[in-house]
Amino acid sequence: MENNKGLYLQLFSIHGLIRGNMPELGKDADTGGQIKYVLELARALGDHPDVCQVDLVTRYIDDKRLAADYAQIIEPLSENARIVRIQCGGTKYMRKELLWPHLEEFIERTIRFIKSEGRIPDVFHGHYADAGYVAMQLANAFDAPFLFTGHSLGRNKRVKLISDGMDENSINKQYKIDHRIQMEEDIIAQADLIITSTRQEIEEQYGLYNATAKGFCVIPPGIDLEAFYPFYDLELDSDLLSEEVKQTRYTLRKELDRFWANPEKPFILALCRPDKRKNITGLLEAYGTSKELQAIANMAIFAGIRSNINIMEENEKAVLTDMLLQMDRYDLYGNLAIPKKHDFATEVPELYRLCAESHGVFVNPALVEPFGLTLIEASACGLPIVATNYGGPVDIIGNCENGLLIDASQPEKIATAIKNILIDPQKWSQYSNNGINGVRQHYAWQAHCTATLQKIYDLLPDFIQPSQEKDAMKDSRSSKKSYGARLTNVNHLLITDIDNTLVGDAKSMRQLFNILDDNQGHLAWGVATGRSLELTIEAMTEFDIPVPDILICSVGTEIYYGPDIRHDKGWQKHISVHWKPERIKEVLDDLGFLVFQEAEGQRSHKISYYLEDKNTRLDRVYQALQEHKLRCKVIYSHGQFLDILPQNASKGKAIDYVSYKFDFSPRHVLVAGDSGNDEDMIAGKSRGLVVGNHSEELKHLQGQPDIHFSNDEYAAGIIDGLRHYGFI
Ligand code: GLC
Ligand code: MG
Repeated sequence: MENNKGLYLQLFSIHGLIRGNMPELGKDADTGGQIKYVLELARALGDHPDVCQVDLVTRYIDDKRLAADYAQIIEPLSENARIVRIQCGGTKYMRKELLWPHLEEFIERTIRFIKSEGRIPDVFHGHYADAGYVAMQLANAFDAPFLFTGHSLGRNKRVKLISDGMDENSINKQYKIDHRIQMEEDIIAQADLIITSTRQEIEEQYGLYNATAKGFCVIPPGIDLEAFYPFYDLELDSDLLSEEVKQTRYTLRKELDRFWANPEKPFILALCRPDKRKNITGLLEAYGTSKELQAIANMAIFAGIRSNINIMEENEKAVLTDMLLQMDRYDLYGNLAIPKKHDFATEVPELYRLCAESHGVFVNPALVEPFGLTLIEASACGLPIVATNYGGPVDIIGNCENGLLIDASQPEKIATAIKNILIDPQKWSQYSNNGINGVRQHYAWQAHCTATLQKIYDLLPDFIQPSQEKDAMKDSRSSKKSYGARLTNVNHLLITDIDNTLVGDAKSMRQLFNILDDNQGHLAWGVATGRSLELTIEAMTEFDIPVPDILICSVGTEIYYGPDIRHDKGWQKHISVHWKPERIKEVLDDLGFLVFQEAEGQRSHKISYYLEDKNTRLDRVYQALQEHKLRCKVIYSHGQFLDILPQNASKGKAIDYVSYKFDFSPRHVLVAGDSGNDEDMIAGKSRGLVVGNHSEELKHLQGQPDIHFSNDEYAAGIIDGLRHYGFI
């Protein structure tokens, strides 16, 4: 990255179809408002002078059924913003609920991407639960702030689905809702800042969770002000009146005029999905029962696109049928327009402007409105608004003072509010202007970015402001490096066994630590041992070993990172496949000759016994496991230890995992050991080293390529190996 001044932000929005050019909004349930939000946010943040780079990180999709755009690894959005696509769970498109098992892969590949870029993001910001989980893990790895925007939450969704009549079992099967909610609990507890669009979201949505958040901040999204400009601009700026705009206006006018007997009157506009909760019924009752209102103004209701009411979903069908019945009951022919279709992108802004030119009013009759994007867009064009006093509109009218809040469950209140605005031209103009100005002040992406960055700076007290030089890969946050920063910053790695390799000769061990210290700029190091974490720490204390960068414990079934000993949960997830510890214990207990090790020997992914006299007995262990189709790994060492591990676990496999995750080439990884239980890691892809004091079990490796047998013993052997392979 050439420009290193300013903040480097990574936004995550994993599911759905995201592309910069002509985003396919509404293509499926996962490609809706959130996609628009993150695209606009990424561009707006990229344009901010304090920001040098924004990555919108999403899933890589290479699928014949979809456009090739989704298979572009890097897609520029603007000068400082781009989409970065990371693969997980193969390359075919998947709905979001099916992505959960693949998020660890997403995290690993993102770390590799970060390493390849040579710069660590200053902030990780997750959008929706899946990306929240990913951003949380990455922020943890790099000790960076973690921001979260939920967009919607699982507990609310579950309530809704239950009230729709779906049973818990099917909800879980289809939506994996329990898992989502559990992840959201973790995310809420850990996020440094949660951004919501409204105050109501904090109480009504996050309020349903047990976790206590560290901090909330209400920052409404911005709208596209280029599209939603004021109605009077058309009159004042003739450049805006393109052929396209003229055609759109002409079509809309003609469509509306078909319905109205007196098209010159102001009109009341409503625009929403045909959904019962939007309360179109209440609005029609308000209008239908007020002869006065009918005399003053026409009404136009745009309730989604429809071709044939008969083949619609029940909810939509009921809403539209009711609409027609009410039109008839109140005899609104000549007054009410209910056009059949509209094109959102091009027609909606013109519709608002036509309505504003007629000196009309925009009404959102929903009983509850979580946010109210249409209200903001209508206001931006200069339409006074009437909306429910429950939810987002309270914030909007509070900020802009551009309309009236009502109890939407009472039709006569709706009618009165509309009438009061229509009959008072002065009030109308005041609301109209306030809306135009207020939206630009409160609902522009620029304002959103400024508010967000202010919060980010609070979380990054040591951050060097853009005016000062910032070196690539230099972690300005603190002198103590996060493990993520440490491991993405070096390209060589030493992994050593503890007992009889690192430990055994105090003098050369001290010498080794000095060498590691001198070379820390390019060389990280770790231990790999059969010991549990507790016994590893015990050894470190006893022999005065500094905290390594990586601790591979319990025969490769657990990985931790220094300096704070953070557990790698991704690895645990990887090795959990086919792991049935309870069944294994049952089967092996029946053998009678195995002695169960004490508590420290037993771990979540390692079962350990003592076994003397292995000759025929070891075969019986294998047989028993095979008979019961229990897939696992059996490791016997030192003539007494029997470890049963998950199939995919071993010290060597753990090293492969770390090398992959932090992108170390095997040629730059040196693995040192002394005995049989080091064999799989020494003989692996990395460069092997056997110390001079090795046991007989390793002798047969002599002469193999990439395995160096040192003449020096213990840590002196390791030092010899580091020189032999040119690591130091
Ligand atoms: C360590 C562990 C023990 C294990 C042995 C061999 O001594 O404490 O549980 O069986 O290494 O891996
Ligand atoms: Mg050893």
